[in-house]
Amino acid sequence: MKESQISKNPFASELREYVQEEKTFYCMPGHKQGVGAPTFLKNIWGEKVFSYDITEVNRSDVLAYPKKEILHAQKRAASIMGAARTWFLVNGSSVGIHAILGALVKPGEKVLVHRECHKAVLMGLVFSGAVPIYLEPVPNLPEWAYGSVDIQKVEELLVKHEIKLVLVTSPNYYGISLDISRIAEICHEHDALLFVDEAHGTHFSFHDRFPTQALRAGADYVVQSMHKTLGGLYQTALLHSAGNSDFFDERVDNMLSMLQSTSPSALFLMSIDAALTEVHEKGEELYGNLIEMLDTLRSQLNNSKFGVVDPPDGILAAGNFVSYDPCKIIFRSISMDEVNLIELKDALSESYGIEIELAEDDHMLLTLSLADAMDLEKTKKNLIRFSDTIEKLFTEGVGYVEEQDDFVDHRELPIFELTPRDAFYSPKVRKPISEAVHEISASMVCIYPPGYPLIIPGERINEAAIHTIYHDHGKGFTIIGITEDADELYIDIIEEPQTK
Ligand SMILES: Cc1ncc(COP(=O)(O)O)c(C=O)c1O
Repeated sequence: MKESQISKNPFASELREYVQEEKTFYCMPGHKQGVGAPTFLKNIWGEKVFSYDITEVNRSDVLAYPKKEILHAQKRAASIMGAARTWFLVNGSSVGIHAILGALVKPGEKVLVHRECHKAVLMGLVFSGAVPIYLEPVPNLPEWAYGSVDIQKVEELLVKHEIKLVLVTSPNYYGISLDISRIAEICHEHDALLFVDEAHGTHFSFHDRFPTQALRAGADYVVQSMHKTLGGLYQTALLHSAGNSDFFDERVDNMLSMLQSTSPSALFLMSIDAALTEVHEKGEELYGNLIEMLDTLRSQLNNSKFGVVDPPDGILAAGNFVSYDPCKIIFRSISMDEVNLIELKDALSESYGIEIELAEDDHMLLTLSLADAMDLEKTKKNLIRFSDTIEKLFTEGVGYVEEQDDFVDHRELPIFELTPRDAFYSPKVRKPISEAVHEISASMVCIYPPGYPLIIPGERINEAAIHTIYHDHGKGFTIIGITEDADELYIDIIEEPQTK
């Protein structure tokens, strides 16, 4: 069936009809359209939502082997997004990443992976057994320019190793996007497939002021979260193929049927279907209005303590970035002194009911979406209020750091001794991190935000990483992969055979 012949919301519409009919359930789910659902939840959610929490009932389609409405909905999504094939995902972009690493590379084959990737990539490597070659970022760029790529280095690594797959993240958390067309060209010259983690760029297709979507720029496979910037429920995502290999597409089919639940809730699938329909119909106009408003407002948001950062061309070029998402706003503290913006973030949440995307050492990030385009006047008023509030809080001393420390984030290049998979299956012991320097890590340590791995399982822990952990722990960042007990921090390391 052609996309033009497929109705809007094919899956969501079918489910609506199904649910409207009176039925007696002698089948799963246990709550039977909400009748047996917890009263507490019925009182706060209402009963209706449960009636759609069904899966693969008679008449409806099967996610792993779609033949009817799910197939139509996926075909429609592919056509909207410019893909040859699209799969609906119910365990986020994470499961798409795992499926790609399982499908496109065999155990022992090499994959070029950006060091500053999402942890789902490293977990995917444990699962797939592919051997990572790590691509280091360009040094000395600001934190918000993470995920930068040295194109020459990519070429050198592709010449040096027989690499089957290259995996990069674009855009990064801050909406800053790599030169995917150039990277795709190089990958294809060396017979490597390119997979782009575009978890934060699902909306890029819907206005030409956004960076070019990775699939249109030449990537072979792309994953996008529906919940991060569009209206999908949490856990929903899309995986796209450019259609360059039926063989690999079939492997992806098989991997996804292995990794995804056999009971995907229709709530997830309906939300993907309906959210795509809505943004397809209204996105261009709504994003256009929002971007236009933000273009004029950005400079008015500067105050005496914080300035709005428009990533400078020099930094973009140095990191092989080409553009950025105008719906992200980075507020950077003007004084170069150390500040504690985690404290400011907490104060915004607790005293003003303002939740922001992230606070880092010297900057904060706000993410705007279609929701903010619904009432532009309100969005504008709220952003001005936000700017005034952070200035006021900072002037009152919230986030002020009395004792400056001498922390310099000079990451040393780590030495990789084991693959993440070998590290995962090796015997391990827990050690205080003060004694862990030069040991091989069994843990993946990620500092949130933005959450890319500081220490990868299988690498030798260096002093710079330990220093960063102490520093960021002291400032209140969330650190995963570290255990805290009686004021000491612990990390799992590989038990190495003792040499005499
Ligand atoms: C760059 C990146 N990739 C992948 C993911 C995983 O996405 P999901 O939460 O949809 O599984 C995230 C989540 O934060 C991310 O930031």
